[in-house]
Amino acid sequence: MSQEANPKEKKERMSLLGLVCSTRRLGNSELLIKEVSSRLTTPHQLNLLRLPQFDIRPCKACYACLEEGRCRQEDDLATVLDALCQADALIVATPTYFLGPQASLKTLLDRGLSFYGRADTLWGKPAVGAAVAGIPGKEGYAKLGMESFLKFLLAEIRASGVFYGALPGEIFQEEDNLNRMEELAAALEGRRSEPSGFCPVCGGDTFRFLSSSRIRCMLCSNEGEAEGTANGISIDVRPEEHQMFTNQKTALDHADWLRGMKDRFRAKKRELLSLTGEYKDMGNWIQPE
Ligand SMILES: Cc1cc2nc3c(=O)[nH]c(=O)nc-3n(C[C@H](O)[C@H](O)[C@H](O)COP(=O)(O)O)c2cc1C
Repeated sequence: MSQEANPKEKKERMSLLGLVCSTRRLGNSELLIKEVSSRLTTPHQLNLLRLPQFDIRPCKACYACLEEGRCRQEDDLATVLDALCQADALIVATPTYFLGPQASLKTLLDRGLSFYGRADTLWGKPAVGAAVAGIPGKEGYAKLGMESFLKFLLAEIRASGVFYGALPGEIFQEEDNLNRMEELAAALEGRRSEPSGFCPVCGGDTFRFLSSSRIRCMLCSNEGEAEGTANGISIDVRPEEHQMFTNQKTALDHADWLRGMKDRFRAKKRELLSLTGEYKDMGNWIQPE
């Protein structure tokens, strides 16, 4: 492993953090992480964090973390962020729930403005990820959601994949799954460079068709053209002006742009209130018990 969380601190073994996004003990996500860990040739300490156990509350959109470097909410975000920062490498595994990643991963990503305060530690951290789905072909956007988390975490996604298995342990009954777990381990250690995905900007493999040939990459949000060729399909996506994570500078520029939102709001507050005021008392709110 090339990266140390804190180069000044001499560590004996590299630390790998497994982010398990399933509530199921010894479920497929947990098993996959443990199997990938067992296939690493680098001596390491595997630390595990079962994300749904942690109290991560919804983002309040106050933008205070961008100014103050940390979120004002008193919940488990700092504990989770500390664990992510202290790890030398990451592996994330999420079950597919209703075609998407398990909700705890999205809730953590929704607090992602806090990641910018730790950009120096998080940037380029080696990571691999897996989306586990019970029904072949029914993984929906679970892998995209997991990759999106890793991109905004500013990690370097070395490989990712979809793994099929429904009952706990079934993930080991597919020979192909085991081969691909080996590939994740090799990619994490840099023993193997995965062929990158189709998007030339970010390596993503999920696109929206905007017209019959115009496409947008759903991971990096850049647009381009898809064209059928004799060998398959050619994808030409180019980076547009406003990037979010293609390199550390674009990530930090995006954070600066977000900081500017507060001034923009102050400048436009009166104008916006004149548009919204009359909606204030409309409707009856149902309150939680
Ligand atoms: C609430 C719920 C929703 C699910 N939705 C999907 C789905 O949309 N597509 C799919 O292929 N599998 C779905 N599954 C199956 C799980 O993804 C599968 O069992 C997986 O192995 C669970 O991972 P785990 O053992 O790490 O919890 C769903 C399971 C649950 C409990």
